Amino acid sequence: MIDASRNLALELARVTEAAAIAAGRHQGRGDKHAVDHAAVEAMRTILPGIDADGVVVIGEGEKDDAPMLHNGERVGNGNPPLVDVAVDPVDGTRLTAEGQPGAMAVMALASRGSMLAPGRLVYMDKIAVGAEAKGSIDLDAPIADNLAGVARALDKEVADLTAIILDRPRNRPHIEAVRRAGARIRLIRDGDISAAIATAVADSGIDILLGIGGSPEAVTAACALHCLGGEMQVRLWPRDEAERRYADEAGLDLESIIGLRGLVDSDDVFFAATGVTTGELLDGVHYTADGAETHTVVMRSRTGTVRFIRATHRFGP
Ligand code: FBP
Repeated sequence: MIDASRNLALELARVTEAAAIAAGRHQGRGDKHAVDHAAVEAMRTILPGIDADGVVVIGEGEKDDAPMLHNGERVGNGNPPLVDVAVDPVDGTRLTAEGQPGAMAVMALASRGSMLAPGRLVYMDKIAVGAEAKGSIDLDAPIADNLAGVARALDKEVADLTAIILDRPRNRPHIEAVRRAGARIRLIRDGDISAAIATAVADSGIDILLGIGGSPEAVTAACALHCLGGEMQVRLWPRDEAERRYADEAGLDLESIIGLRGLVDSDDVFFAATGVTTGELLDGVHYTADGAETHTVVMRSRTGTVRFIRATHRFGP
C-alpha cells in the first residue's frame, strides 16, 4: 500500500502540464512527430524529480515508432513507493498537429506489478461505462444487449444514449450495431482515453465507449476509470497471424475478457491529464504574454478524489 498521506497524482500534474505546454506550441503545424517529441522531452525534465521508483510499463511507440518513454525505462528519484508507470505524452498527436480538439498529455501510476503489459499487441476491443452503469456491460454480449442494459441502469431510452467510437474501418460493425439498436453515436478521429473518461463524467453527454483502439490507451484509461468508479472490459485484438503467434509465445490470452482489474490490479492508482487542445473534458493550453495557463484533471483511486486544476505558469526570469 502506498502511504495514504501522499497524493502522487499531484506530482504527476507537473509532468503532464510540462508536456502539454511544450506540445501545444506545435498545434496546427502539421507535424505530429514534433508534437510527441516536444512532449516527451518536457516530461523528461520533470520525471527525475517525482518522488517514486517507477518503471514504464505502458510507454508508446510499439506502433508509432514515436520518440517514446521506453517500456522498462526507470523514472522518478528511485525512492519508494515502487510503482508501474503508464505514460502517453500526447493522446491525440494528430489532433494537435491538425489543430483539432481533444488532445491531452496523460500519465498514471499504480503499485509495482499491477499494470498489464500488452507487448506488441497494439489493439484491444473495448467497452467502458461510468459508475452509474457499472455491472451492465458484457463484451461477449451483442451491442444491442449492452445498450439496453446501460439504458436500464441510467433510466433512459436506448434512443437517448450516446456511444463514442473511434472512426476506423475496423469499427464499422460496432457502428452499424449501434445504429441498428437506435442509439446515437459520437465518432471521434482520435483520443480514446479521453473518450473512456467521458463515459464516467457527469454532463459529458457520453454513455458508453465501444470499439477497437490502442492497447496502451486501454490500460491508461482503466487507471482513470478505476479512480472514477467506472467499468471497462477489453479483449486483445491481433491484426494478423504474426500477432497471434506472438501472443501465443508471450503467453497473452486472446480469448478471455480482461476486466478493469486485469488492466490495472491495484488499489493505489494515480492519474493526471492536462489539455493540449481544448476538448470536452479539459481546456487546451493558453499562452500569455509571459507564460501559459493549463487545465488538468487529477485523480486518485483510494480516496476517489477528482480535482480540476487551473494553473498559471510564468516563463523566463
Ligand atoms: P496517439 O495520439 O498517441 O497516436 O494516439 C491516438 C489514438 O487515437 C488513441 O487514442 C487510440 O487508442 C489509438 O490512437 C488508435 O489507434 P489507430 O490510430 O492506429 O487506429
